Amino acid sequence: MDPDRAAVQEQLDALNETALAGGGAEAIARQHAKGKLTARERLDSLLDAGTFRELDRFVAHRCNDFGMDEKRVPGDGVVTGYGRIDGRLVYVFAQDFTVFGGSVSGAHAKKICKVLDLALKNGAPVIGLNDSGGARIQEGVESLGGYADIFLRNTLASGVVPQLTGILGPCAGGAVYSPAITDFLVMAKGTGFMFVTGPDVIKAVTHEEVTQEALGGASAHTAVSGVAHFATEDEQAALAVLRALLGYIPQNNMEEAPRRPTDDAPDRLIPELDELVPANPNRPYDIKELITAVADEGRFLEVQADYAANVVIGFVHLGGRSVGIVANQPSVLAGVLDVNASVKAARFVRFCDAFNIPLWVIEDVPGFLPGTAQEHGGIIRHGAKLLYAFAEATVPKITLITRKAYGGAYCVMNSKHLRADYNLAWPTAEIAVMGADGAVNIIFRQELASAADPVARKAELVASYRERFANPYRAAELGFIDEVLRPAETRARLVEAFDSLENKRDRNPPRKHGNIPL
Ligand code: HXC
Repeated sequence: MDPDRAAVQEQLDALNETALAGGGAEAIARQHAKGKLTARERLDSLLDAGTFRELDRFVAHRCNDFGMDEKRVPGDGVVTGYGRIDGRLVYVFAQDFTVFGGSVSGAHAKKICKVLDLALKNGAPVIGLNDSGGARIQEGVESLGGYADIFLRNTLASGVVPQLTGILGPCAGGAVYSPAITDFLVMAKGTGFMFVTGPDVIKAVTHEEVTQEALGGASAHTAVSGVAHFATEDEQAALAVLRALLGYIPQNNMEEAPRRPTDDAPDRLIPELDELVPANPNRPYDIKELITAVADEGRFLEVQADYAANVVIGFVHLGGRSVGIVANQPSVLAGVLDVNASVKAARFVRFCDAFNIPLWVIEDVPGFLPGTAQEHGGIIRHGAKLLYAFAEATVPKITLITRKAYGGAYCVMNSKHLRADYNLAWPTAEIAVMGADGAVNIIFRQELASAADPVARKAELVASYRERFANPYRAAELGFIDEVLRPAETRARLVEAFDSLENKRDRNPPRKHGNIPL
C-alpha cells in the first residue's frame, strides 16, 4: 500500500481503537469489578452474533468548561446503532459508564435521539440499556435539553414501535422518565437502580435513611412500585428477557407479531382442566396452571410476576400466535381487583391493543376490594382505567369465565358488553351481582329476621340463589356468554376462535385521543 493510503488507514484504525477502548482499561476493570459488563459487551450479548452496526462512533461533546476541552472520548459515553435479534431489526443504545460515568451530554442525547428517529421511520423496536450518572454536570442545561429531546421521542414512538429498557446501572433524577415511558423495563438485581431523588437527598429533606437497593433496586421496582416489569439475577439474564420479549411482539403497530412454529397440537385435549376448579367456591387454585396447560409447549412469559399478583399478565403462543393474557388469580387475595391490579392490567391491555396482540382474558373475580384504603386510593379512577382499556381495545378479545364473575368486575373484565368477540364459560362459572351468601343477606334481610329457624331458611335461600344465578346459563340465555364448554376442550376452542378472528376489523370513533382517567 502506498504510504499516503497507509497513513489514512492508520488514522482510522487509531480512531477506532480509541473509541472501542471507551474509558480505558482501568475504568473497564472497575466496571467488571462491580459485576457489570461494558456497553459493547452488553450489545454483543443482546444482539445476534456479528449483526451490530455502530453509528456515531466518533461523536464527541462540545463542552469547554471545567477542563472538559481536555477530555473528549469518541462516542461520548453511549454506544448506538442497529442490529438483529432472531434475525429481526432492532435499534439500540447502550450507555457506557466507563466514559464520564455514562452521563448524558447534549451530544450523547443527540445520538440517542438519532436511533429513536431511525426506529420510528423504519418501524423497528428500540432497546435502551441504561447505566448512567445522569445529566452531565459540566454541561448544565444543554444536557437537560437533551433529556427532554429524548422524552419527546419516547412519547411520539409510544404505541408505534415497541420500546424496551434494561436498567443495568444507576438511572437517577429526571433521567428515569425516559425508561418510564417505554413499554417494558428489565432491571438487574444488585446493579440496576432507579430513583428521582437518591438516599442522600432523601436524608437531607425528610431525615429518612434508606439504602439505594431498598429505595430503587430491582426488587423495589418490580414488587413495590410497579415501575419495572422484570427483576433478573444478573445482566445476562436481563438481556435474555429482552430478547425473549421480542419473540411475542411485532416490529411496529402496522405489523403482526411473529408466529412461532409449534408441534403442540392445536386440538390437544387437557382432561386435568376438568378438575381444576375446586368444588368449594371459596377454595383457591392457581390460574397459572390453566395458562401453562393451554399454552403452546406450556410456555408462559409472565410480566410483573411480583407486583399485584392478584392479577396475572403475560404472553403465550396459542397455535403459534402470540396472545396477551390478563387473568384474575384466585390464589392471591381471592383474585379481587384492587388499585394496583387494575393499573397493571390496564397498561398491559393497552400495550397489546397498540401492537395488534390478541387478548385472552381469564376471569375468576369476586369483585373489587372493599375498604377505605382502596376507596381513598382511587379505586374508582383506577378501576375505570381497566374498564376503559378493555372497552377501547379493538384487537381480537376472548374472555373465559372459569368461576366467579361478580358485580362490576363482571362488566370490567372484558365482558360481551365491552365488545369482546367471544365470551366463553366453563360449567363452573358463577355469573351474578354478588356471591349467593351476600345476596341472600341483602334481599331476604326481613324474611330472615322473622324466620322461625333463620339458619335453615338462609341455607335454603342460598341454595336457591346459587341454583338460579351461580352458573353460566342465565348469561348464556341472554347471549352474554357465547358458549359453555368443557374445560378439557379449552385449548382447542381458543386456537380455533383466535383463527376465526384473524381478519377482525374494528375501530374507535375519530378523535385526537381519548381521556383515560389517569
Ligand atoms: C459528569 C459524572 C457524572 C455526571 C458520574 N460522573 N456522574 N460526570 N456528570 N452526572 C463521572 C465521575 O466524575 C467519575 O469520573 C465517573 O463518572 C465514575 O463515577 P464514580 O462516582 O467514580 O462512580 P461510582 O462510585 O460508581 O458512583 C456512581 C454514581 C455517582 C452514584 C452515579 O457517580 C454519582 O452520584 N454521580 C452523580 C449523580 C447525579 O447527581 N447526577 C445528576 C442527577 S440529576 P472520573 O473522571 O473520576 O472517572 C439528573 C437530572 C436529569 O440527572 C434531568 C433530566 C430531565
